[in-house]
Amino acid sequence: MKKILLTGGAGFIGYHLAKHLANQEDVKIILADNLWRGQMDEDLKELLKNEKVEFLEADVTDPKFYESLSKDFDQVYHLAAVNGTKLFYEIPQEVLRINTLSLIYLLEWARNLDKKPKICFTSSNEAYAGALSAFNSLPIPTPEAVPLIIEDTYNPRWSYGATKAIGEMFVIYYSKAYNIPAVIVRPHNFYGPRAGFGHVIPQMSERITKKENPFIVYGSDETRTFCYITDAVEAMQILMDSPVTDKIPAETFHIGATDEINMLDLAKKLFEVTGYNPEKLDIKPGLAGSVKRRLADITKIKSSVKWEPRTSLDEGLKKTYEWYKNKF
Ligand SMILES: NC(=O)c1ccc[n+]([C@@H]2O[C@H](COP(=O)([O-])OP(=O)(O)OC[C@H]3O[C@@H](n4cnc5c(N)ncnc54)[C@H](O)[C@@H]3O)[C@@H](O)[C@H]2O)c1
Repeated sequence: MKKILLTGGAGFIGYHLAKHLANQEDVKIILADNLWRGQMDEDLKELLKNEKVEFLEADVTDPKFYESLSKDFDQVYHLAAVNGTKLFYEIPQEVLRINTLSLIYLLEWARNLDKKPKICFTSSNEAYAGALSAFNSLPIPTPEAVPLIIEDTYNPRWSYGATKAIGEMFVIYYSKAYNIPAVIVRPHNFYGPRAGFGHVIPQMSERITKKENPFIVYGSDETRTFCYITDAVEAMQILMDSPVTDKIPAETFHIGATDEINMLDLAKKLFEVTGYNPEKLDIKPGLAGSVKRRLADITKIKSSVKWEPRTSLDEGLKKTYEWYKNKF
């Protein structure tokens, strides 16, 4: 039987990934989470009815947690982290502690096992976001081999990006020194049901349900791509199951969509999906620290494992709004 551990398994990616992995035969999926951000909600309770999925309430920054685990895991997806921009400003010391310690203890545990599990580390585009503001230059679309930059150690925003940059290096050099198979992924704007309430799509959706008029659009000319969560977790699973990523040291892959959309058109698309037509729009500047354009180069994942996103933005937004509309 294939045994898979998901740290941070009650969170957004963890829940959808577990649901996706549970479609495999002869698999056991353990979700470890301290429920700090992820919740034991109806969706997760429903998923846990599947006997292939098990939940462990645990703090993954505690080395005793790893000691308590069985030694026969085949794969680990390390998702546990503090994320959410607000928290980078409020508790940068905790962002640094939790994101870094959880990874170090995981790698220390793995290096001492006879059978090394394959590890997937979820980094972030925040690891390279500083390149744009520091040097005003970032190739667009942005490939994996871009400098990782901490623009200002005294700006707490960079606490998170710093943990992702150092995390990538930990994974690369532990994988090399101790022969641990591993893959590093950088998610780019995954969206879908159960993603919390801090992102642009749930926030616009909430204002639509409240019939906001004039409807405020922040940073109308800022563009993003949005990758629907079921496509995203499929990409992670394909990478982990592919012999392409068995090479040592770990390689890095961008995961994201390529159809760019600006915030004004995103709002208009959500109006179409929801049937809401505000009489007036109120266009405001983008939020401080927000980048004008973010676009991942996904050539590497496309050519290595033949993955590319399949869900159209219309379809993804419909499913997302359907889930959120009664939850505000
Ligand atoms: N969602 C995205 O688009 C995106 C983008 C870039 C990077 N990522 C990365 O992907 C990973 C998963 O992201 P997500 O969107 O699912 O976030 P999430 O906040 O929904 O999930 C993270 C989970 O980790 C858990 N956790 C935090 N500290 C813990 C601890 N000490 N012990 C046990 N569990 C703990 C939280 O309770 C939460 O359920 C994170 O590492 C994140 O930085 C996500």
